[in-house]
Amino acid sequence: MLKPVQILTRNYGLPESWTLQVYQSQGGYQSAKKALSWPQAQVIEEVKKANLRGRGGAGFPAGIKWSFMRPHPTKPAYLVVNADEGEPGTFKDRTIMERDPHRLIEGCMIGCRGVGAHTAYIYVRHELHLAKDRLWAAIREARSAGILGPRPFGVDYPVDVQVHTGAGAYICGEETSLLNSLEGKRGEPRFRPPFPAQFGLFGCPTTVNNVETIATTPSIIEMGGEAFSRQSELHHLGDGGSRLFGVSGHVRTPGIYEACIGLTLRELIYDLGGGLPEGTKLMAIIPGGSSCPVLRAEEIVNAPDDKAILHPWHGKSILDVPIGVDTMRELGTMAGTTCAIVLSDKACPVRALHNLVRFYAHESCGQCTPCREGVGWMGRIMGKLVEGKGSIEELDMLYDIASNIMGNTICAFGEAAAMPMIGFLRKFRPELVQYLHTGGKSSTGGLAL
Ligand SMILES: Cc1cc2nc3c(=O)[nH]c(=O)nc-3n(C[C@H](O)[C@H](O)[C@H](O)COP(=O)(O)O)c2cc1C
Repeated sequence: MLKPVQILTRNYGLPESWTLQVYQSQGGYQSAKKALSWPQAQVIEEVKKANLRGRGGAGFPAGIKWSFMRPHPTKPAYLVVNADEGEPGTFKDRTIMERDPHRLIEGCMIGCRGVGAHTAYIYVRHELHLAKDRLWAAIREARSAGILGPRPFGVDYPVDVQVHTGAGAYICGEETSLLNSLEGKRGEPRFRPPFPAQFGLFGCPTTVNNVETIATTPSIIEMGGEAFSRQSELHHLGDGGSRLFGVSGHVRTPGIYEACIGLTLRELIYDLGGGLPEGTKLMAIIPGGSSCPVLRAEEIVNAPDDKAILHPWHGKSILDVPIGVDTMRELGTMAGTTCAIVLSDKACPVRALHNLVRFYAHESCGQCTPCREGVGWMGRIMGKLVEGKGSIEELDMLYDIASNIMGNTICAFGEAAAMPMIGFLRKFRPELVQYLHTGGKSSTGGLAL
């Protein structure tokens, strides 16, 4: 059920919401003060109770991730905030940095306490100029007020926050490439194990979290983990609270909206997104950023016993399933960043897919062969198909190439590139075949994304 809330976004509409004065007038930094006076284990416990799933795409429980950090006898620990936000269709984290940067800084202080670090690095995509300016200004304010520094609120727990700018490569959003880039190296993924919690930034124990994940923690400390979790209709599945939802593409009011988890795709598209432009019909949805497999609007939930999570929606439209990490996984797609891309019947699946593949072919870092060669190969075949020159055999070959990338690469970029391909080939085969048979005439509209 649609429950719009303003927990994370409660300062968004306020004049000068990015200043320390406004942030503190709304109770800002009280949660950090509380958390710094708590033992580390208590901070982790509260975040576990909140059922806060990572907001960067994979949905890993944040409290559990924090509990992997073990103090090292000689090395410091670090918190790294992933503000690379490169996923096409995803534009939520920048709103936090632009409109409420102090909330992210407060979250960094809580996160540092939770993982036993004294320094947080925020890795920001270069072209987010306003976000960087607002973060730098907010850090200066927090330092001169003594909030960041050797004794925040008189507590003997030094905390500092640094901003590092990336150069705008999608691969640098992958956490181990991000760490390499932060170290001044080429942004290429690392083999795991060892995982960042054992060997992260500069070889030290490190936790990497998304901007929204970290910026949510002040509200968790303020409300209490359980109360935060219960905001969500899916809290029984360990998916708690509220989160930012985005909607873009063929809708009337694209944007970023906060709502309690439990929001359905229908509510996101029609209530928040304002529905589709006049004279068009919903054809498909990419639920959580470009790497999530596409869903067709007319799909019906089929919930056999091994998909017990979906039983309450068995026989209903997929549009009525709440968007959650586990519910979307059971539908064969992903909640990802919960920023949906909407395709109307004016879109052409072939051109849309070509658009996506070109992005991934351009962004592959080239370190491992299945990704470098496979994604480039898919890009070349799609380049032919989109001109109506390909063959049915090549459609099958695309499926083979994508399937062989999956699980055979150093990082999850391979999956991110292969999943949209597999999704479109499974869901839109008749349209793709018809496009080829007619030499490049779309059976639907002609728009790419
Ligand atoms: C190719 C690729 C790009 C990614 N880009 C981002 C990104 O821009 N922002 C982000 O937070 N996570 C991104 N991730 C996920 C991160 O690797 C990591 O899982 C995330 O930052 C962890 O934060 P969370 O647990 O708070 O979600 C990306 C992953 C891959 C494979």
